Amino acid sequence: MVTLLNHAPRRLEGKVAIITGGASGFGESTARLFARHGAKVVIADVQDDRGQSLCRDLNLPDQISYVHCDVTSDSDVRNVVDFAVSKYGNLDIMFNNAGIPGNLDFTIADADNDNFKRVFEVNVYGAFLGAKHAARVMIPERKGVILFTSSVASVVSGECPYSYSASKHAVVGLMKNLCVELGQYGIRVNSISPCAVATPMLTGAVGLDKAVVDDIIRASANLKGVMPTAEDVAEAALYLSSDESKFVSGLNLVVDGGYSTTNQSYIRMLKGLAS
Ligand SMILES: NC(=O)c1ccc[n+]([C@@H]2O[C@H](COP(=O)([O-])OP(=O)(O)OC[C@H]3O[C@@H](n4cnc5c(N)ncnc54)[C@H](O)[C@@H]3O)[C@@H](O)[C@H]2O)c1
Repeated sequence: MVTLLNHAPRRLEGKVAIITGGASGFGESTARLFARHGAKVVIADVQDDRGQSLCRDLNLPDQISYVHCDVTSDSDVRNVVDFAVSKYGNLDIMFNNAGIPGNLDFTIADADNDNFKRVFEVNVYGAFLGAKHAARVMIPERKGVILFTSSVASVVSGECPYSYSASKHAVVGLMKNLCVELGQYGIRVNSISPCAVATPMLTGAVGLDKAVVDDIIRASANLKGVMPTAEDVAEAALYLSSDESKFVSGLNLVVDGGYSTTNQSYIRMLKGLAS
């Protein structure tokens, strides 16, 4: 088995990737997986201690770097893109993954205006800056992959606060527009929309332990017998970043075990009446 794994193809050999929000959750799992597949990875985050300790843990100094980058700062995003190009020669993959949940404002009348702006600043403007600076260096090379983390909130409504839901729809709109503009340069643009996964973001947002959040996810899942993890999102990112998806662009890849495909309310009512 070990021999087989050692000979598994390294699907990102020689590629250079930036992962925003790479110090935790989906970004961290993706950094680990991309490194295993031979990519040079620049972890861009505001959690410096976490980012640096991930680099130490991976222990691949020629392959993995951490750069402080607040995605809402044009100069920080410019800097991390220029760092990747000057250190590794080019940029193949820009994974705009950093995001925040914002307040749990579920009613429009009580929704906090500043929170709405802040969620858009990180989730949408941050993703826009990542795409803009990545395109700047990818267009002359006439190749590259730009990837975003949206959310199942981009396809299912009413389960997330206004700011978060609207921001994740906006990320898909950004992705689709980029796909059209950048197709002429051979640059592919896609997004991933995961369902709820008990990362530090989600457990922190709802204020519950991981075990409790996992129970809620398990109970509400469409696909039973498997828990969604950050590694599932990393695998989707690997597929969309590798040459296996060389003709896939403009896709919002929903990773939710079919959760958004169904709405069981009607059938549950019907079954309830029948029993
Ligand atoms: N966990 C879920 O249930 C879930 C579901 C769907 C989508 N998402 C999305 O996945 C992405 C990753 O979230 P996660 O669940 O891994 O959470 P996480 O909190 O574990 O990771 C998010 C990372 O983004 C970083 N970040 C936040 N603001 C930043 C900024 N201004 N500049 C740079 N980095 C910043 C954080 O420091 C953190 O390391 C987010 O876009 C989130 O909205 C999460």
